[in-house]
Amino acid sequence: MRIVIIGANGQLGSDLSIALSKYKPICLTHKDVEVADFRIVNKIFRKYRPEILINTAAFHNVALCEKEPLKAFMVNAVGVKYLAENCLYYKTVLVHFSTDYIFDGKKKRPYIEEDYPSPLNVYGISKLAGEYFIQYILKKYFIIRTSAMFGVHLCRAKGGNFIDTMLRLYKEKKEIKVVKDEITSPTYSLDLAKQVKELITTSHYGIFHISGHGFCSWYDFAKTIFKFLNIKVKIEPVEAKKFCPEVRRPPFSALENKHLKILGLDRMRPWQEALKDYLKKKKLI
Ligand SMILES: NC(=O)c1ccc[n+]([C@@H]2O[C@H](COP(=O)([O-])OP(=O)(O)OC[C@H]3O[C@@H](n4cnc5c(N)ncnc54)[C@H](OP(=O)(O)O)[C@@H]3O)[C@@H](O)[C@H]2O)c1
Repeated sequence: MRIVIIGANGQLGSDLSIALSKYKPICLTHKDVEVADFRIVNKIFRKYRPEILINTAAFHNVALCEKEPLKAFMVNAVGVKYLAENCLYYKTVLVHFSTDYIFDGKKKRPYIEEDYPSPLNVYGISKLAGEYFIQYILKKYFIIRTSAMFGVHLCRAKGGNFIDTMLRLYKEKKEIKVVKDEITSPTYSLDLAKQVKELITTSHYGIFHISGHGFCSWYDFAKTIFKFLNIKVKIEPVEAKKFCPEVRRPPFSALENKHLKILGLDRMRPWQEALKDYLKKKKLI
């Protein structure tokens, strides 16, 4: 099976490259392909003629997206349209990643795939536009929505994951302030990559939520990280609107892996279990 991975040196792309290694995927980085350039995208398809194209590329620094909406739309929507158009022509299955931020967080229960999207920020709007392009162009696609990802490989857009940030703040400050009123489902990228490997070799195309089981606030996530590390630190819970007033984010964006469950394919696990494994892999516990 000829698989091409775009964004192969990113947080998720690195784990996908490992999880799919038996297929010897063609691993492309931003140096090899710019998704917002149709000519370059088409060259990649002509050269590799992939049976499956996995796109992890995104402009996903949420605060920067507010400042650079044009770039957000070029990468997260128009670039995805270019990929979908080429997938249609070359009969390629598109695997694309989207986000819990397409929801507004008013539901207060985990979102299922059928829930109505209503994004609150430029990032979420641009990612939803990307989803819509795929759905109107293609029949054979996997749109995978995930949330609050952490993995051993660096999240390139954010310069690290939430755990890295907590450990940096612990070294720099006496007291750490963490948002208490945004609730999400932390997701270990290695678990996600393994789950993606299983899903994309089926023909159950469509939209899938794939997140760690359960949910927590960023404050609870931080407390659990330090508990597992056996570190005593003062953490102050703060309101999102005081912490980062310039960006609106959903107050509750936990995802339920409903479609995976229906297919009997849900191999994700409680986020706390995955977090422990991550800390072990990083040799922190
Ligand atoms: N991280 C999260 O918490 C989270 C949560 C929900 C959904 N997601 C989604 O999951 C996906 C993967 O996230 P991640 O954390 O693995 O991201 P990441 O570490 O930032 O990796 C993204 C990769 O895409 C490349 N890239 C960026 N812009 C590109 C462009 N215009 N053309 C080609 N390549 C480009 C990056 O290369 P350079 O760095 O060299 O530009 C990098 O290799 C994204 O679609 C994101 O929206 C992430």
